Formats: sequence, C-alpha cells, structure tokens
Amino acid sequence: MVAGYRLTDTTLVSEIASARSTFGDRAAILVETVQLRRKAVAKFADPSGWLFTADALQQATAAPVAAHRARRLSGAVVHDATCSIGSELVALRDWAGYVVGSDIDPVRLAMARHNVAGVDLCRADALRPVTRDSVVVLDPARRSAGRRRFDPRDYTPALDALLAVYGDRDFVVKTAPGIDFGELGRMGFAGEIEVTSLAGSVREACLWSPGLAAQGVTRRATMLDGPEDITDAEPGDCPVAPVGRWIVDPDGAVVRAGLVRHYAARHGLWQLDPDIAYLSGDRLPDGVRGFEVLEELAFSERRLRQALSSRDVGAVEILVRGVDVDPDTLRQRLRLRGSEHVAVVIARIGSGPASRATAFICRPSR
Ligand SMILES: C[S@@+](CC[C@H](N)C(=O)[O-])C[C@H]1O[C@@H](n2cnc3c(N)ncnc32)[C@H](O)[C@@H]1O
Repeated sequence: MVAGYRLTDTTLVSEIASARSTFGDRAAILVETVQLRRKAVAKFADPSGWLFTADALQQATAAPVAAHRARRLSGAVVHDATCSIGSELVALRDWAGYVVGSDIDPVRLAMARHNVAGVDLCRADALRPVTRDSVVVLDPARRSAGRRRFDPRDYTPALDALLAVYGDRDFVVKTAPGIDFGELGRMGFAGEIEVTSLAGSVREACLWSPGLAAQGVTRRATMLDGPEDITDAEPGDCPVAPVGRWIVDPDGAVVRAGLVRHYAARHGLWQLDPDIAYLSGDRLPDGVRGFEVLEELAFSERRLRQALSSRDVGAVEILVRGVDVDPDTLRQRLRLRGSEHVAVVIARIGSGPASRATAFICRPSR
C-alpha cells in the first residue's frame, strides 16, 4: 500500500495520515523505507525488497562498483568486516568462493540478514579479527556526526589501525577518491591503489594489498563505463606538443590515479603542457568523447566573446584547467545569443613568464 504512494511535497502529509490510520506507529518507518528504496535505484538494480537507513544508503557502494571489486576476488574466501546493510556482500556472494560478513552495528547487521540471503553474518569489531586466512574487505566510514573526514586516521575504524591489524594478510580497503597517496605510503601501504569511475564521476580509491595487486602495479584507473583500465606498469612516456586535431579530457579516474601520461602513451596522444591533464592527438581513441579544435586564441573574455559571436554561438560548454575561471560565471558573462553549440577548452600552457592562458574553440565529437 505505502509503496504505491506518490510521496511528493503536496501528497506527503495526507499520505502519512492515511498510513498512520492503517499502520499506527509504524507508518513513519514504512514511508521512510519506501522513500529510501526509491532513492536507492541510483545505486542498486532492484532495491524494492531492501531495508535501509538513510546513512547506510548514503554510504553503500553502488552495485557496479561492488560487482567490479567482487569480480577481482573471484573464487576467494572473503570476509567483509564492515558489511553494513550488505551492498558488497550481495556482489561477493556471486563471485567469491565463500563469503562471510560482519559489522559492529546490530541494526545494519539485521538489515543485511534481511537483504542478503545465504551469507553467514556475525557482529564483530573489525579491529579484532574473527577470521583467519580470508581476504578481508573493509569500507571504513568516512563521515561522523554528519561531517566528512578527510584524514584517513579519522575514518571509523581508522585506516592506520586497520592496516596495522590486517597488514600481514590479503586485504582490500575502500577509501575516499581524494585520499593522499603519499600519506598512504607513510602509513606503510605498498600495494595497488585503484581509482574507479562510474558514469563519468570518480567513486573511490581502493587499496589492494601487495598479494592481491598485479605484478608491478601500484596505481590503476578503472573506468566502469568503458572497456579499459590502465596501470602504471604500462609505459608512461608521451611528448608535449602544440595542439593537434583533437583535445581529449581524460576520465577523472585516469587523472586522479596520476596516469595521464600512461593513457596518452597508450592512445598515441600528447600533452599540451606537462602540468595540465588535457591531451591532444590527430585520432580520437575509440569510444572517447573529444573536442575537435576549430580555433586557438590567447584567452581574454573580450577576445573569446568576439570569436564566439562571429561563429554565431549561443550555447557553450566550457572546460578549464590551470586558469582561475569559473565556467558558469564566464558562460553568463559571455551573453551569447547565436544558434550554434561549441565547446571551449581553456588551459594554462607553458610555465613561468612564458605561460599563457589559451582558449581552444572546439566542436564536441558528441
Ligand atoms: C561505509 S560503511 C560500509 C558500507 C558497506 N561497504 C556498503 O557498501 O554498504 C562503514 C561500516 O563500518 C561499520 N563499522 C564502524 N566501525 C566498525 C568497527 N570497529 N568494526 C566493524 N564495523 C564497523 C559501520 O557500522 C558501517 O556499517
């Protein structure tokens, strides 16, 4: 019954009243569960039977990311020691040889028991291991009291404590994508850092202990929407040269993993500047959205407005790196009135006194 409610701003009050007349005190939780299930479609293929709390849903790993991690653990004996409501367990159940889940929070564990049938679960503190010889999957909470924690020592449980406890066995830890890689080294981590993107946005940096990392790989960018991943075991030499036919803005996972040059080398591209992530080439890599260069000019707002007006441009997508320009503000200030659509790539090219902000007026490939 509640699942059929519209639950919009205008219907919510009357629908809660109607739910209360049938379900009494349970109405609020029923309504919240339906609302959370609707929100959960952004992360899960079919959350219609799942139980969530708002925080647990917010923290849950999206199904394609969990499935990717689980595939890498194919056939292994796995212990998800911060399993929460079971978003990773459900993927691990499909891929691991055997999987067990634990969490310190009894409510989340009860939800996991409902959400993921056929997986053994127990309540346990991840800092006091309850399994031996399994691969441990850890996803410490990165928020507390509503605040996001940037220092991995402030995660719950703390990352340095987890590394100390599990350092002598195979482990996988999900962390924030912005984690300081140098800090991980100082904490003694020497495995692979995998940066994963989905639908164009960087989702996480995942730490794979040395025993689970591929030979010679310390950084990997995985793009779940594309066919490829790229690692630092590949050659990373690429030239720096003036712009060619195309500009390519590599996926955020490639940039965050520090693999721009490796990506360029793989696809025969070159850098426009050694410190800027935009690449150029005469051929667009398969399946990649690129920007075909129509015109290059020294960037100033006035010059750009003139150039765009003379091309009868009305809509512009603006990409900026290395120049202090806010794309939305610039778009408004350009006040374009034409009918054409272009992209403008603005970048600082060169260093020191010779550096200049350059604008490339481009036609997007799609
Ligand atoms: C970010 S959530 C995990 C989310 C989960 N991977 C998912 O995709 O749904 C972190 C979890 O760690 C649990 N946790 C926090 N401290 C813990 C500890 N000391 N031992 C075990 N679990 C803990 C929390 O209860 C929470 O469920």
